[in-house]
Amino acid sequence: MFEEAQYFAPVSTTEDGGVVVELSQSHPGFADPVYRARRNAIAGLAVNHRRGEPIPEAEYTEQEHEVWASVTRELAVKHRKYAAAEYLAGAERLGLPEERIPQLQEVSELLEPLTGFRYLPAAGLVPLRDFYGVLADGYFHSTQYIRHHSVPFYTPEPDVIHEVIGHANALASDRFARLYRSAGAAARRVESDEALEFVSKVFWFTLEFGVLREDNELKAYGAGILSSYGEIEEFRGMDIRPLDLAAMGTTHYDITKYQDVLFAADSLDHLEDVVGGFWDSCDDESIARIS
Ligand SMILES: [Fe+2]
Repeated sequence: MFEEAQYFAPVSTTEDGGVVVELSQSHPGFADPVYRARRNAIAGLAVNHRRGEPIPEAEYTEQEHEVWASVTRELAVKHRKYAAAEYLAGAERLGLPEERIPQLQEVSELLEPLTGFRYLPAAGLVPLRDFYGVLADGYFHSTQYIRHHSVPFYTPEPDVIHEVIGHANALASDRFARLYRSAGAAARRVESDEALEFVSKVFWFTLEFGVLREDNELKAYGAGILSSYGEIEEFRGMDIRPLDLAAMGTTHYDITKYQDVLFAADSLDHLEDVVGGFWDSCDDESIARIS
């Protein structure tokens, strides 16, 4: 199921300044008070963070570092088979730690010399305009918690494995980083909520769930596929459609279900021409014409 990277637990602030993450009853960590306390503490780091300051360190348990290590190991095998070459090259350049969860500050320090991108901690869902807008400045909002250790290969929400293995490896590529920045510039340029939603859906069907052809094989470059142990084995069997801006910008997706419609670019050049070109120039009027 494309359940990863879809759902954010609501975060609220109490009167005494505490931060509470509301996990649903079906969340694997719901009945684990120690995990929940850690989630609250990690969300608090993001709520209290100010841009420009170093990202505070999150505390993780040994079990959680082991989750990172085993998911990294398993995904690396699948990436060799299913990931786009440009993503693999990005991962090679970035050199994420394999045995422990990297701190977001550390991810930022690895990325910035490569493509200028830096990470910002997010407690949960970030409003669309802010999430996308800051991409134009080379900032990427990221959650910092990790999934519950009882189910290392499943998460109902985007965790640090999705944000870092899925996104940072792509952000380490000059070509993908340029696309992320273009999406950010587009989000800044458009004015109506409808146009912003169109821009964000194109992002969803490309940088989150995009696939492209390489030597007649379908490869994934979207972070949602590449960070998901289950989805990465499934995407070639999905309903694969040609890259089409109008279709991507208007296709409805259900965030709680399988992402069963995917859009394939013929190549990375093709993706840059069509989607990069769109983000570089779109405005409310041009979007209204094609939607
Ligand atoms: Fe994502």
